[in-house]
Amino acid sequence: MKFFIDTANIDEIKKGLALGMVDGVTTNPSLIAKEPRPFILILQEICTLVDGPVSAEVVSLDADGMVAEARELVKIADNIVIKIPMIEEGLKAVKQLFSEGIKTNVTLVFSASQALLAAKAGAAYVSPFVGRLDDISVNGLDLISDIMTILRNYGFATEVIVASVRHPMHVVESALLGADIATIPYKVIAQLAKHPLTDIGMKQFLADWEKRKQ
Ligand code: E4P
Repeated sequence: MKFFIDTANIDEIKKGLALGMVDGVTTNPSLIAKEPRPFILILQEICTLVDGPVSAEVVSLDADGMVAEARELVKIADNIVIKIPMIEEGLKAVKQLFSEGIKTNVTLVFSASQALLAAKAGAAYVSPFVGRLDDISVNGLDLISDIMTILRNYGFATEVIVASVRHPMHVVESALLGADIATIPYKVIAQLAKHPLTDIGMKQFLADWEKRKQ
């Protein structure tokens, strides 16, 4: 399973890289808005740090505008992937960008039908948002299961990025379902490494070692 980090913060990306947990990066307008520097400069720096795919999101609402933004964004680096919202105009943009060899990540996916359409349009990635579904009492991981089944049934090349990850079990359950990628906030990457018995065991080992030294 590939891990992308869901942030536009350079320090978090560096921390994730140091752990070997960053196979790619996803950003969105809300994440970019938290950072003080210009959008393009942030993306340039991320792309120099990370070899894998770096998603940059368009903000136009019509296909022509999305395509125009995408053509500019891909000039930043070879590993830029264009994040396109899952609306009808977005599907048109995905189809056009696919024909130009530009990779897309269809975002804000909340149903299996949306994922199927994105895959048919030629998206390289689809991003179902599990946490936001859980927030409205719909099981986000059931959606991942359905999407994996549908994409596998027809051999689509589209990869599933589990997005809106809120806690470690979102990652573990997604891995059990065979999801290709999870895009994870740094805080959850750190939580994945933690176990109270590891901490208790370390404390005991060190205490015993100190006693022996005395
Ligand atoms: C995915 O690409 C999005 O950036 C992200 O996962 C959204 O997560 P949120 O629901 O926590 O904002």
